[in-house]
Parts: sequence; structure tokens; C-alpha cells
Amino acid sequence: MTPNPRFLFLSKKHEEALASLSYGINKRKGFILITGEIGTGKTTICRELLNRLKDIDSALILNPSLTEGGLLTAIVDDFGLTSGRSIKEKIDTLNRFLLERREAGRNAVVIIDESQHLSIKALEMVRLLSNLETEREKLIQIVFMGQPELREKLENKELKQLNQRIVVRYHLNPLDCEETFDYILHRLKVAGCPEGFLTFTNGAADRVFRHTKGYPRLINVLCDRVLTAAYVENKKVVDKEMVLKAIKDIEGYKSSVHNTWGFHRLLGIFRRRGTVL
Ligand SMILES: Nc1ncnc2c1ncn2[C@@H]1O[C@H](COP(=O)(O)OP(=O)(O)O)[C@@H](O)[C@H]1O
Ligand SMILES: [Mg+2]
Repeated sequence: MTPNPRFLFLSKKHEEALASLSYGINKRKGFILITGEIGTGKTTICRELLNRLKDIDSALILNPSLTEGGLLTAIVDDFGLTSGRSIKEKIDTLNRFLLERREAGRNAVVIIDESQHLSIKALEMVRLLSNLETEREKLIQIVFMGQPELREKLENKELKQLNQRIVVRYHLNPLDCEETFDYILHRLKVAGCPEGFLTFTNGAADRVFRHTKGYPRLINVLCDRVLTAAYVENKKVVDKEMVLKAIKDIEGYKSSVHNTWGFHRLLGIFRRRGTVL
């Protein structure tokens, strides 16, 4: 379940997202926005991007603090800089660093994952950060990664200036049926499964797609369950029935957790009311 780039499957969509990022960063476009629903592979792409940014200084903020000060501290720290405690001192430190890097002919990137959590004030602060620029190009490239509600947030009146300056945008969609099949085969191979050792029938892969709608995170959860069952039953061919059973198990588990939770809540209410059970 971890976004490990070792398992990276470059679907056309993931490739396009990475190409948008490389274009925006290398051409110094300033702001780049990548959106996608939960589990489509945004964090995986962040990690892969970091691997690819060879001669570029980068800061990756995975769980952004909601406040301007907190976010700024995280950026300064991730670049490995030391600074005074006030916001002004931090901005000055960052500016000095960026100018220095510019003179050394280098580019700098800040990637903020889960950006939909940033407050309006923090987003506006990020815009001000990028005000430091030479006549031709931005000294810092800022990548916002986030769930689709980030786009709605950026429509806010107070963020009009920021929104207008985001020129590179990409929305990551889930995989289609064929990509889902290829994704499963790819991950099996990287995990060390020799070719032909284990097969998913077309019907099985189709069921995985229908149930997960091509969201990689959900595919992982379902296939993990299916593979565990295949291992226990010593089966080398995964068929539709096995997938259906795994779906039932997962749904059953979810509803039993739900029911237990509901039961305990009811118990709490009875206890508070002094009912003897
Ligand atoms: N292109 C991909 N290649 C390999 N695994 C992926 C890919 N996209 C997503 N995943 C897997 O799916 C899960 C969810 O991906 P993640 O990057 O955390 O999604 P998001 O950040 O959009 O919620 C992770 O376990 C990751 O390993
Ligand atoms: Mg993520």
C-alpha cells in the first residue's frame, strides 16, 4: 500500500502527468497543478518525480501544515536550510538560497502533496514566495498535488491571482480496463513472480476492473486478498469466482467492522443512560 516507485507502472496517464511536471519545471513555468481522486497515484508520482530531478534542488512536503508559518518552516527545513524563527527571516533565508542557486545555474522545486488541505492564507503565501523572479523566469517552481476539491478551492476570489498564474495543469484519471490488467501483471513481475507462474483469467481481470473502477489503491487491496487466497489454496490460475469471493470477504469485513463499531456505540449510550445490560 505504500507509494513505492519501484513498482511504478507508467500508464499513459501517469506518463502524461510526469511529462506535464517535467515540462513545467524545466521551462520554469512557476506553478503546476496535478489533481486526482484518492488512490490514483499522485504520491507515487511525487516520489518518482524526485528520483528524476537530478540537478534540481527540491523540497517535498507530504502532509502540509495548514498554516502559513508551518508550511514555510517545512519548506525551509526540507531544503536543509537554517533560519531564524519569524516568517520574515524564513522568507529572507529562502530568497537568499534561491538567488544563490540561480547564480549556480540551478533550478529549485517545491512539491506540496495533499495541497487541498492548505488554508487560503497558506496558498496565498506560496504565491508570494514565487514573486521572487528574474525578468524572464521563475526562481522557484511550485507543484501543487491534491484531490479534486483543490481546483474548487483555487476558484476562491481571494486566490484569483494564484489561480491565474497556474499555467500547467493535469488531472489524473483512474486506469481503464486494459491498463488495469497490465498494471496487475506489471506489479506481479516487479514483486518477483516469474512469467507464466500465475495467471489471471480475462474474467478475473475484468471483475477486478469492474469492482475497483481502475483505482490503483483499490486494485492493490483486492489483488492482495485474491493472491492470499490463491496461495492458501495453492492455485496458479486466478479466476472470476476467486475475485468475487475476495470482494465478498472485503465487503463482509468492512460491514462487520462497521457493525462492531455501531454495537459499541449503542453500548456506550446505554451505559451513559445507566441501563443495565
Ligand atoms: N502508477 C503506479 N504504479 C504503481 N503503483 C501505483 C501507481 N499508481 C498508484 N499506485 C499504487 O496505488 C496506491 C495508491 O497510490 P498513491 O500514490 O498513494 O495515490 P494518491 O496519492 O493519489 O492517493 C499505492 O499503494 C501505490 O503503490
Ligand atoms: Mg497521496
